[in-house]
Amino acid sequence: MARQKIVAGNWKMNLDRAAAVALTEGVAARRSEVPGVELVLCPPSLYVGTVGTALKLAGDTSPSGVWLGGQNMHDKPSGAFTGEVAPAMLTDMGCRYVILGHSERRTLFGETDAIVNAKAKAALAAGLVPIVCVGETLEEREAGKTQTVVTAQVRGSLAGLSPEDLAKVVIAYEPVWAIGTGKVATPEQAQEVHALIRSLLANLASPAVAADVTIQYGGSVKPDNAASLAAQPDIDGALVGGASLKAADFLGIAAAFNS
Ligand code: PGA
Repeated sequence: MARQKIVAGNWKMNLDRAAAVALTEGVAARRSEVPGVELVLCPPSLYVGTVGTALKLAGDTSPSGVWLGGQNMHDKPSGAFTGEVAPAMLTDMGCRYVILGHSERRTLFGETDAIVNAKAKAALAAGLVPIVCVGETLEEREAGKTQTVVTAQVRGSLAGLSPEDLAKVVIAYEPVWAIGTGKVATPEQAQEVHALIRSLLANLASPAVAADVTIQYGGSVKPDNAASLAAQPDIDGALVGGASLKAADFLGIAAAFNS
């Protein structure tokens, strides 16, 4: 299985229902321009159904070729967890992906590597592809701790996964200092960490599995900086926040990975 390019839009807590539908239709209408890239939309959970309907998702098929993802989920299948969403609820609504351990979840909602690990296992058990996010803060980078921090996050978030499961995950390297700040990592900075993540995967699973895992970069990706990121050997797509809220920008980023 060759490594798949994936560009995912993390809409975060933005848009209203009409805008979510308009954006979905805008992306779907031009999907054929980027045949080499898997496109994923990750709306706020309340709009997952609305976006799934706009994409005409049916079972495991997407006529538009655009896929749906959640931004978060609980690790338990059901129960007294007010305000939470279960893995099977996401698949029931047509989700193929789920973002896990985004830095906003880690810093604002106290998610630890152990929590992300439990969620990753639950996502895989439910048939979802987890997009597991890792990345260092500015303070950690300046203290020379990037490799240590990312290594601990990758090992902790993926602990206990079999090589078969590791082959199914997507990793997103998102330096916290680059998220929503307009400060994108240089292609060389990103590549260095992507190569580290791939070597960690080789260690956890095998070099063959590691070679096939999609590792996305995230943090202020825009159409005008995507090409230099895409040119790096270990950057296989993007997890896009702000620029995913405009169809043209999102597709512009996807175009950079479409080769
Ligand atoms: P950004 O967000 O593209 O707005 O920096 C990326 C993310 O948080 O996934």
